[in-house]
Amino acid sequence: MAVIGGQEIRKLAETYGTPLVVYDEDAMRTRLNEFVSSFKSEKLETGVLYASKAFSCKAMISLIDEYGLYLDVVSGGELYTAYKAAYDSSKIFFHGNNKTEQELKMAMQMHVGTIVVDNLMEAEELAQYAKEADYPIHVLLRVNPGIEAHTHKYIVTAHVDSKFGISFLNEEELVQIIQVLQNAENIVFDGLHAHIGSQIFDIQAFLEEIKKLFAYSRSLKEKYDIQFNTLNLGGGFGVKYTEEDKPVPIADVCKSMIRTCEEEQEKTCSMIQRILIEPGRSIVAEAGYSIYKIGYIKKTPNKQYAFVDGGMNDNIRPALYQAKYDAFIEGKEKEEAFASYTIAGKCCESGDILIESIALPKVQKGALLVMKTTGAYGYSMASHYNKIPLPAVVFASEKETREVIERETFEHMISLEK
Ligand code: LLP
Repeated sequence: MAVIGGQEIRKLAETYGTPLVVYDEDAMRTRLNEFVSSFKSEKLETGVLYASKAFSCKAMISLIDEYGLYLDVVSGGELYTAYKAAYDSSKIFFHGNNKTEQELKMAMQMHVGTIVVDNLMEAEELAQYAKEADYPIHVLLRVNPGIEAHTHKYIVTAHVDSKFGISFLNEEELVQIIQVLQNAENIVFDGLHAHIGSQIFDIQAFLEEIKKLFAYSRSLKEKYDIQFNTLNLGGGFGVKYTEEDKPVPIADVCKSMIRTCEEEQEKTCSMIQRILIEPGRSIVAEAGYSIYKIGYIKKTPNKQYAFVDGGMNDNIRPALYQAKYDAFIEGKEKEEAFASYTIAGKCCESGDILIESIALPKVQKGALLVMKTTGAYGYSMASHYNKIPLPAVVFASEKETREVIERETFEHMISLEK
């Protein structure tokens, strides 16, 4: 009997309907534990942030809070979700390349601990607003060390023309921004932040990033007497979507990173005392499953389609990034493959294909197709295309199943329409 988090898939589908997003809560807990216990150093202060863009809801924020993680948000909406989850705002890092005045002021009202500044205009505006602040606002500057991690081009964020951060090559502006921040009232400049891409398997890319950041910090100190104590190394740790993906175990990645940080710290006699990472995908992706019900099956000259009751509206990743997924038919996990199917959604769009080709046992109408590793950037990037309501989300564990986001109704969808 097929289960997720110890709960029968068929029962989950009967109780909550389909399409349904199910998270194996115990798997998330194990992963959170792994991060917290292995990203540790005796020489440096360390911290793990959860990048909530991967999947944000109140229950998720409460879960990461249990493990002492900090929180990365990138918008007023993510910030508001953290507020409603009663998350300690002093532990929030507010990112984004184009925060609005309202968002910055909302962050200050909430006493958000750290703002990650992206550019000169933002630094200048924040310095103005901070005059009114009634607490010290910690600030990091997002920099771009110019490392292109081997990943899909849409999700590489550290190349020289990236819309994010300030390139190391643009030192004059980078120094100017730091000086604006260091001279501002109520701002404490803590250090640098970088994020070199997503779904990265090559651990060398992270080690290279660390070396570059330590070396650059040292040169800022030597050349301009700029001092700070924190490096935030971003997220981007790869996960296993299909058998082709071979991620390095998280504990090993964390330990290598820590070792390199300690070595660099010693080598460069660094002022850096605190190291942060901010994984999103690697905390939620593999724990998440999407359960769909198979509808019609149709043959074309070269394909056999199996249609499901969701699609690109609840998972845009195959259409947007040609992302690959693995899946199985509930109750037939051990059966031999019968044919190759193309799994397509119900949206009015030819590109609405969830899996281009997958070998499955004979698929029948009403069967449940379970797509694996859909926990990151699935629900969070979902849309209302074709006015298909958003699925429900449940956390399943040996102990219990709890619905953390209700299924949207048609009425919810049109509730703002006049
Ligand atoms: N920190 C920053 C500043 C980021 O920009 C990101 C992701 C993360 C942390 C978390 O990265 P992760 O550990 O989740 O890879 N929608 C794309 C991924 C976009 C990632 C954007 N930034 C996808 O579905 O693959």
